[in-house]
Amino acid sequence: MADLSLRNISKSFGKVQAVAPLNLEIHSGEFFSLLGPSGCGKTTLLRIVAGLEQPATGSLFLNQKDITALPPQKRNIGLVFQNYALFPHMTVFQNVAYGLEVLNRTKAEIRTKVISVLEKVQLDGKQSVAVPNLSGGEQQRVALARALVVEPQVLLFDEPLSNLDYALRLETRSVIRRLQKETGITNIYVTHDQSEALAISDRIAVMNSGAIQQIGTPQELYFSPANRFVASFIGHANFFSAEICRSCFGIQAIGENEVLVVLPEEISIERQMESTSKVESISTLPSDGKANGKIIDVQFSGAVVEYVIDFFHQRITATCSSAKHSGDLQIGSEVAVSLSGKNNRKVSREQ
Ligand SMILES: Nc1ncnc2c1ncn2[C@@H]1O[C@H](COP(=O)(O)OP(=O)(O)OP(=O)(O)O)[C@@H](O)[C@H]1O
Ligand SMILES: [Mg+2]
Repeated sequence: MADLSLRNISKSFGKVQAVAPLNLEIHSGEFFSLLGPSGCGKTTLLRIVAGLEQPATGSLFLNQKDITALPPQKRNIGLVFQNYALFPHMTVFQNVAYGLEVLNRTKAEIRTKVISVLEKVQLDGKQSVAVPNLSGGEQQRVALARALVVEPQVLLFDEPLSNLDYALRLETRSVIRRLQKETGITNIYVTHDQSEALAISDRIAVMNSGAIQQIGTPQELYFSPANRFVASFIGHANFFSAEICRSCFGIQAIGENEVLVVLPEEISIERQMESTSKVESISTLPSDGKANGKIIDVQFSGAVVEYVIDFFHQRITATCSSAKHSGDLQIGSEVAVSLSGKNNRKVSREQ
């Protein structure tokens, strides 16, 4: 069990500030994710934790011990990367055993530990197979076994599933999550996929341009975003100005410098069968909680259907369960737009 504390950590490469000065407390046994768009500094922060990169400022504490100057091999921190980094000329067993051999463990101990960890990642039948003959998902599980076998206090993952197809991603991430809960190892997991982070994390730090935007549980980030960036990145939220809120939805309690955050599943649309007279200005609309828009795109993605709607020259998105999808709602359909939910989430107009 290990907790990790990052205090005033920052890193620049020339003029690029990859990580702005930040503080982060990761609790013992926690599945913690760093989530953000490409280039926001996730890998750099992970490499600082691993000891592969020195921070420009700040210190790093593992169980209250300052490890900032410790080399990577002395930190007891494991790493699993996107590209697996396995030894191609070795079997599964040899790949997993390697870390224990470096630590001069006895042959008997190595055998017991490797077999036990291969069972955990469901590769017990594959120990003699050469690595190139494994599927991508199996190779990723070998990489996971290799990191786990040396019993690190902290395990770091950098986009470990991005080379896998969708079904394998789901399967492998549930293996990672199950093992983390069984072993109690503190995990830091880097991803730019918000649905993956929401599904597997205890807490998430959302990053943008090297800075942490918000830290919270998946539910906190989804339902109480701190700002526009988080609302947009996590929930693909729509934002409505004070003027739209008052004129179209009868919502008065909103300041001029705020926007209302509305998730796509909180927008309801209904086909307008008779074309109503064209409304040119929002101030002429009745405040009856409904206003008109036009569907400009419909995307079916299995469980849900997403509608993109032109709503007073703003593109908004609404989703509904495919089971409720009506054939009436097509590109070009005029629709009445209304809001469901509490509609009390507001953030600053600024990013
Ligand atoms: N060794 C380096 N030399 C110069 N610039 C670097 C170096 N490593 C990272 N950067 C820059 O620092 C910023 C953060 O990079 P980083 O790799 O941490 O982002 P990331 O969030 O992991 O992105 P991705 O999701 O694409 O992997 C980027 O602007 C990147 O170009
Ligand atoms: Mg990266």
